[in-house]
Amino acid sequence: MKLMNFVNGQFQQEAGAEFVPVINPATGEDLAQVQRSTAADVDEAVKVAKAAQKKWALVPAPKRADYLYEIGRLMKERKEHLATVLTKEMGKVIEEGRGEVQEGIDMAFYMAGEGRRMFGETTPSELADKFAMSVRAPIGVVGLITPWNFPVAIATWKSFPAIVAGNTFLWKPATETPMMAYEMAKIFQEAGLPDGVANIVFGSGSEVGTAMIEHEGIRVISFTGSTDTGRKVAELGGRHLKKVSLEMGGKNAVIVMDDADLDLAVDGILWSAFGTAGQRCTACSRVIVHKDAKEQLQQRLLDKMEKLTIGDGMDESIKVGPVINKKALEKIHSYIEIGKEEGAQLVRGGEILTGGHYDKGNYYAPTLFVGVTPEMRIAQEEIFGPVISLIEVASFEEAIRVNNGVIYGLSSSIFTADVNRAFKAQRDLDTGIVYINAGTTGAEIHLPFGGTKGTGNGHRDSGVAALDVFTEWKSVYVDFSGRLQRAQIDNEA
Ligand code: UN1
Repeated sequence: MKLMNFVNGQFQQEAGAEFVPVINPATGEDLAQVQRSTAADVDEAVKVAKAAQKKWALVPAPKRADYLYEIGRLMKERKEHLATVLTKEMGKVIEEGRGEVQEGIDMAFYMAGEGRRMFGETTPSELADKFAMSVRAPIGVVGLITPWNFPVAIATWKSFPAIVAGNTFLWKPATETPMMAYEMAKIFQEAGLPDGVANIVFGSGSEVGTAMIEHEGIRVISFTGSTDTGRKVAELGGRHLKKVSLEMGGKNAVIVMDDADLDLAVDGILWSAFGTAGQRCTACSRVIVHKDAKEQLQQRLLDKMEKLTIGDGMDESIKVGPVINKKALEKIHSYIEIGKEEGAQLVRGGEILTGGHYDKGNYYAPTLFVGVTPEMRIAQEEIFGPVISLIEVASFEEAIRVNNGVIYGLSSSIFTADVNRAFKAQRDLDTGIVYINAGTTGAEIHLPFGGTKGTGNGHRDSGVAALDVFTEWKSVYVDFSGRLQRAQIDNEA
């Protein structure tokens, strides 16, 4: 199968295009070939998107939303198929694949509802016989750059608010996971979305991503990916005066207090640390545990880790799938040596799995380090794999300090039975998302998604907050006095 760019409502022709393979991380098999586009392809797509946007902006928002309802309906109808494609190209286990597709469906219906809200403000004017209001206006052509770990959900967080708000877009999916984008293109087509509203350009960040950021026809760049790349996106985007919305790394912690329900905490930790093989921005990679709960927690974690099944996520009995590619496998493994050299104690995992079907895919053993101190690199840097570091603390205050003592600020969690501590924690944890008595993953689409410090630059995906990225505020004054009224001067009364 050859995956071609989707521009102006059509899949482009193969002639002259270059291709790269798409590989199933669980089996090593070639799934498809994907187009490797150039800056010229970006330029062509921007022209199309620009022309389409003029008309699209004039379609009433509730009508724009109708397309989202139809997109959501089609996604729902083919949920199982989409989940299968997702699991094959990305590797997450099929149950999570279904969950991710559901996240996209939820986003479609939620954002469609915004078509009949998209509230602005009306306010009194300081002058007589004058009316004042603010409305959300579309921005133009927007650029979406999405990661491989959530090939469809994150794309819906960005593209659906862009659509309902009256923008048209260019979407560059990650090179590793273009098949979901291809599936979405088919859905956009079938839903009858007008040509040129949704455009998908496949290719590398260095070529296609850069061309998008530099293109004067694109007004907004919404990016999810690593902090290193995000910084470059912001620098380049800044030079071109782009509105840049960044969603980047995390070093998320679960705090377990001495009064916590330990079985619940263990379940929360396992789910948020080893789900998606630890490859979520929201994944738990640190466990900050009160000294009085440490021995018990460690033992229960080890007992349950032993039962985790690792393999091809298409098999329903598997709990932990592969990691995305060989490079990721090596990066994760490099942190094992780093951790050991720093003096942390490796008590489980720490190896690339080999033998049998493991040799065909990219499998890493769920890993637990104990005796970790907060300043160690394994407790500071994003590993993006199934590795957790246990850090012991002596008090609630120390737990909060350790949680906040990293450059990132996406998600955090505390397990405690004390309501006062729970409320103090939600106030003091310096992250964009806080969970009480649940792990660090599981964000719902109708709330803002994003983080503080090195995780973001103040914008949010998801929720109504997403509209702030994809709309421009326009303040409108209507003077119906029939005479010149000067603001700040003629209002002396
Ligand atoms: C991500 O890891 O980039 O809260 C997104 C969660 C998911 C989304 C994660 N709903 O873990």
